Amino acid sequence: MNTRYRRAVLAGNWKMNLLCGDVKPYAQRLRELAERRARREVLVCVPFPLIPAAVRAFRGSHIAVGAQDVSEEPKGARTGEVSAAQLRDAGVKYVIVGHSERRQYHGETDSVVNRKLTAVHGEGMTPILCVGETLEQRELGIQGELVTMQVKAALSGLPEELLRRTIIAYEPIWAIGTGRTASPEQAQEMCALIRSVLRQLYGARAARAVPVLYGGSMNADNAEALLRQPDVDGGLVGGASLDPEKFSRIIAAADRLETPGTV
Ligand code: 13P
Repeated sequence: MNTRYRRAVLAGNWKMNLLCGDVKPYAQRLRELAERRARREVLVCVPFPLIPAAVRAFRGSHIAVGAQDVSEEPKGARTGEVSAAQLRDAGVKYVIVGHSERRQYHGETDSVVNRKLTAVHGEGMTPILCVGETLEQRELGIQGELVTMQVKAALSGLPEELLRRTIIAYEPIWAIGTGRTASPEQAQEMCALIRSVLRQLYGARAARAVPVLYGGSMNADNAEALLRQPDVDGGLVGGASLDPEKFSRIIAAADRLETPGTV
């Protein structure tokens, strides 16, 4: 983390877990445990039906509510889909786009991810763009090329001022939900690579401002070593974000590493 240049971001991704009744006690507990800090953001990305309860429960706090997906279309005949305008209207501030589970189970291509990212920006929300390789791709040694391609395709046509309002998460698929975390060195290498792609596309100043997160079996025990890496600016946390005690310990690890100074 380097909070001198950019804010830290700790994002929970509940995936398809928890029910409406769980939201209020969760929010109360997390509000007690995670103190407000100027240079970091905390948010939870909840399933669509839980959004109103989450927005209510976190109102007036420093914790924001995110969604896990969005339609690439603005409105109309898309049964089962939710538009960016509907999410914004519901109080959502962040939207995950291109999560590997969407790519894997719903056939999302890089060009769909690009359209979703554009839709999220169009409504003034912050996209969290997920990229990452499979185990097979890592074994072939092509993770760098693959992630470079994913980043370039997803950001295609995005102006610099909107890049500065974008978050990127490196999530190696082999580390998601497996308990097999990337080593701090592997996470650093890939997050630094993502930043070098941003530098190439937008220049050093813009690249320096974008938070790049790590996701994949992050927990209270391994968070500090991962977040200590200079290009790992936070975490996108699945399983461990379901419990406010565990999530708050990850947030506390980030707070211990905060660099004095201003973003
Ligand atoms: P886990 O933390 O459960 O491995 O999930 C990571 C993830 O996919 C977050 O988006």
